[in-house]
Amino acid sequence: MPGRNFLFVPGPSNVPDRILRAMHRPMEDHRSSSFPGLVRPILEDLKTVFGTTSGQAFVFPATGTGMWETAIVNTLSPGDRVLAARYGQFSHLFIDCAQRLGLIADVIQTPWGEGAPIEQIEAALKADRNHDIKGVLIVHNETSTGVTTDIAGVRKAIDAARHPALLYVDSVSGLGSLPFTMDAWGVDAAIAGSQKGFMMPAGLGILGMSQRALARREHAKCARVFFDLGDMIKANATGYFPYTPSIPLLYGLRESLDMLFEEGLEHVYARHHRLAEGCRRAVAAWGLSVCAKQTKWNSDTVTAVMVPPGTNGADVIDVAFRRYDLALGAGLGEMAGKLFRIGHLGDLNELMLLGALAGAEMAMRDTGMPVALGAGVAAAQEYYRSSAAPLAARGGAAPPETRAGPSGRGPGREGKPAARTAAIGA
Ligand SMILES: Cc1ncc(COP(=O)(O)O)c(C=O)c1O
Repeated sequence: MPGRNFLFVPGPSNVPDRILRAMHRPMEDHRSSSFPGLVRPILEDLKTVFGTTSGQAFVFPATGTGMWETAIVNTLSPGDRVLAARYGQFSHLFIDCAQRLGLIADVIQTPWGEGAPIEQIEAALKADRNHDIKGVLIVHNETSTGVTTDIAGVRKAIDAARHPALLYVDSVSGLGSLPFTMDAWGVDAAIAGSQKGFMMPAGLGILGMSQRALARREHAKCARVFFDLGDMIKANATGYFPYTPSIPLLYGLRESLDMLFEEGLEHVYARHHRLAEGCRRAVAAWGLSVCAKQTKWNSDTVTAVMVPPGTNGADVIDVAFRRYDLALGAGLGEMAGKLFRIGHLGDLNELMLLGALAGAEMAMRDTGMPVALGAGVAAAQEYYRSSAAPLAARGGAAPPETRAGPSGRGPGREGKPAARTAAIGA
């Protein structure tokens, strides 16, 4: 089919041409004297995206799942207890990861469509007088249900219980798209991957660790080799990796960070909110509901659309793909068949999303759902028209002098030579 595939799964997200070009390069010596010029600024700039000055950022040739494992094995020991809530497929898998690594998980079963149950977390921690619970595992943005949890609220609950447990936050589908402030929220391990808000292919696990979490390495007895942060810290200190890194992905990440900083993280978050709000208005105009049970849980990176009883979300996805070259996200686990998901994260604007909404409408009509063609698109259009900011104010067409500096680098780095340039010169 001519034209581009409309990729609206909630990751992998669209990879912008700039990042594709940045990755398209010959291999080079990852032990050369210039390689740290690429690596060090990436690790430093990632801290800005995590919202930490005191923590440390890591990049692994892995994915988000690998970062669950890294966070756990470097801080905990087999037999340790963790507290977690299961409210979607990814919180389920995070718990599964912990259990398979030998931890004991106290699981709060939570209806899918809700966020982490903050009061119950506080109560469970208050009841744990001996402080046997060593960690609290939370999924920030539950991609399977389109639900975002208030991480500041979870931190408040932990503090209210005066509990020393570490806070582990999976923000695989949040980081780089939704506000994230690791230091302010007291997050000890922040878990992400390259294929969502960073607009890249999968292949990099991205991890932020607090100093408090890193100090636990000494006592953590889980076996670790590839994911040992000790080896990584030692190598990263000189700008290298303990093994062969993925060079194209590192160049892609450099470009991704440049793009995020050029737009400005606040603008990136605001854009995601606008896109998501238009999508939610379309769902309402279709006469359907989202999976998130309360508006406070609405995700700005993925909308999970409940299909009426008697219809199958998988049929909508199949027709959308076969007839219109539109990729929508499937219902996972408990939600299989009950919904389809529209991913709206990463390199995306209003008109792209309107195209996907039009395709979803057609696919729903084709599968017999009583959706009026154009209804959702019109609702989103009205919202986008009424809330549109001039392009320059969004960073899109800003003249070069208003951008973050000659290298397009992050805050406070104006005027410094770009790491990218230094590394290319190698
Ligand atoms: C919230 C969340 N956590 C974890 C994962 C697993 O990440 P990966 O597929 O990169 O291993 C995903 C993947 O979509 C996710 O959405």
